[in-house]
Amino acid sequence: MALPQHFAVYLYSLLSLISWRCLGLNIPEPKGRYNAALSTAELVDDSRIDPYDPNRGNRSVMVSLFYPVPRNQCNQTCLVPYAPRLAANEFDMEAAAHGAPSNGTFENLRLDVCCSPSHNATQDAITYPLVLFSAGLLDSRLQYNAMAQKITQAGYAVVTLDSTYGSSIVEFPDGRSVAGLNVSFWCDEHVTDVCSPTPNIPPLLETNVQDARFILDQLGGPSGIKSLIPSATQGFDTEHVAYCGHSFGGATAVRASMEDKRVVGAINLDGDQFGNITDVLAPVLLFGRSDPVPHNRTDDSTWQETWDHALGWRRQIGLRDAQHWTFNDQPMLAKLAGWPVTESLKAWIGILDGQRSFAVISAYVIESLDFPLKGQNSSLFDGPSQSFPEVVVG
Ligand SMILES: *[C@@H]1O[C@H](CO)[C@@H](O)[C@H](O)[C@H]1NC(C)=O
Ligand SMILES: *[C@@H]1O[C@H](CO)[C@@H](O)[C@H](O)[C@H]1NC(C)=O
Ligand SMILES: *[C@@H]1O[C@H](CO)[C@@H](O)[C@H](O)[C@H]1NC(C)=O
Ligand SMILES: *[C@@H]1O[C@H](CO)[C@@H](O)[C@H](O)[C@H]1NC(C)=O
Ligand SMILES: *[C@@H]1O[C@H](CO)[C@@H](O)[C@H](O)[C@H]1NC(C)=O
Ligand SMILES: *[C@@H]1O[C@H](CO)[C@@H](O)[C@H](O)[C@H]1NC(C)=O
Ligand SMILES: *[C@@H]1O[C@H](CO)[C@@H](O)[C@H](O)[C@H]1NC(C)=O
Ligand SMILES: *[C@@H]1O[C@H](CO)[C@@H](O)[C@H](O)[C@H]1NC(C)=O
Repeated sequence: MALPQHFAVYLYSLLSLISWRCLGLNIPEPKGRYNAALSTAELVDDSRIDPYDPNRGNRSVMVSLFYPVPRNQCNQTCLVPYAPRLAANEFDMEAAAHGAPSNGTFENLRLDVCCSPSHNATQDAITYPLVLFSAGLLDSRLQYNAMAQKITQAGYAVVTLDSTYGSSIVEFPDGRSVAGLNVSFWCDEHVTDVCSPTPNIPPLLETNVQDARFILDQLGGPSGIKSLIPSATQGFDTEHVAYCGHSFGGATAVRASMEDKRVVGAINLDGDQFGNITDVLAPVLLFGRSDPVPHNRTDDSTWQETWDHALGWRRQIGLRDAQHWTFNDQPMLAKLAGWPVTESLKAWIGILDGQRSFAVISAYVIESLDFPLKGQNSSLFDGPSQSFPEVVVG
């Protein structure tokens, strides 16, 4: 069952028209051939009970779709909120806890999107190859909005998905919201970026994989797609999709490629692998960290095990001077908002310039999508690149 939720998008646009002039902090629209259209929807899986819901309701997933609109087919662009109110407050508090000035950055943050694509552009949306994108544990899909928008410039439709009860907070279009379960439910010890998993983690991974497979079922058919693009008459090509994720979302992406042949490429941004690890033929990119705070298969046995099971194209690369939270929108936003670069901030998001790390990460993500989805291979993964000295291949 798919609930149409365009109301939410329109409401955001309206609010933004009222408020942006005085308050807004606008994320610059990525340069390129396209504007990105954005819609959000709640998709409910009638075939599964949510294992975390005390009322045992059906499993419900919030998604955002960004799709490319050729610039001459966009009638109007709008500044829309980066996140709805509760999520924005949550992100502001989290940032403040890491030493950011608590002056409401996220509350005032706006994305510049195409809010009036031409009829042809909406019809053509499903012709772009589809990329799924999952957030980290107790993170939010919204904190990858800028990354998703950037990926659309390469000619991809990107669907970001939340994990209800596993994301920090999920807000539904009817006003309901679900906070993530306490971190102590998931992790025995939670020290900055290290989660020593409780036995609750592997089932959550499996739930998230089922969510992703359900979303693919929905987006591949004419009825599911209508909740995101009302005028659509057919779905995306969901037989060939790539899946990218950060942290626990990266583990979800890799696990999904092990379980579902529709996932023809997986990218794990700095996430330990959890749960069962089995053979995968699809291309796998493990994008971790090099020195001084490394994370790769030399120190993470789950990455070594994943590597051993990746029987097709596989690469491991590492970003220098990065921390675990360098891989979401946060560093770029910190730069945009002009946050003072404190020690606490550096320990959270790393010491690279935020705009630069965003550009480097998106460049490598896009190049690795081009391989499974467009049949283009790249020399970027064969060795060091003069254009990207921050990246170690190995
Ligand atoms: C889940 O979906 C099924 C099928 O539509 C429905 O019969 C059932 O009542 C739903 N369960 C809940 C708890 O809403
Ligand atoms: C876009 O603008 C053109 C010209 O102003 C108009 O004819 C058309 O109806 C508009 N399309 C949409 C989807 O708003
Ligand atoms: C929309 O697509 C149709 C069919 O491809 C084409 O004939 C028409 O010219 C297009 N309209 C615009 C405004 O591009
Ligand atoms: C979350 O877990 C911590 C540590 O176990 C505990 O102190 C806190 O009260 C819990 N919070 C909630 C809302 O359950
Ligand atoms: C892992 O695989 C085993 C054997 O197939 C299975 O019994 C178990 O349920 C799986 N665990 C998860 C978390 O999927
Ligand atoms: C892996 O970690 C080591 C340190 O243990 C580091 O020197 C190396 O650059 C890292 N490799 C990659 C690809 O990140
Ligand atoms: C927030 O505070 C920082 C540091 O004081 C300042 O540079 C920035 O302009 C402020 N942003 C807003 C939206 O007030
Ligand atoms: C492209 O793929 C082919 C076949 O896998 C490989 O031989 C070649 O080295 C690749 N080229 C680059 C630039 O990666």
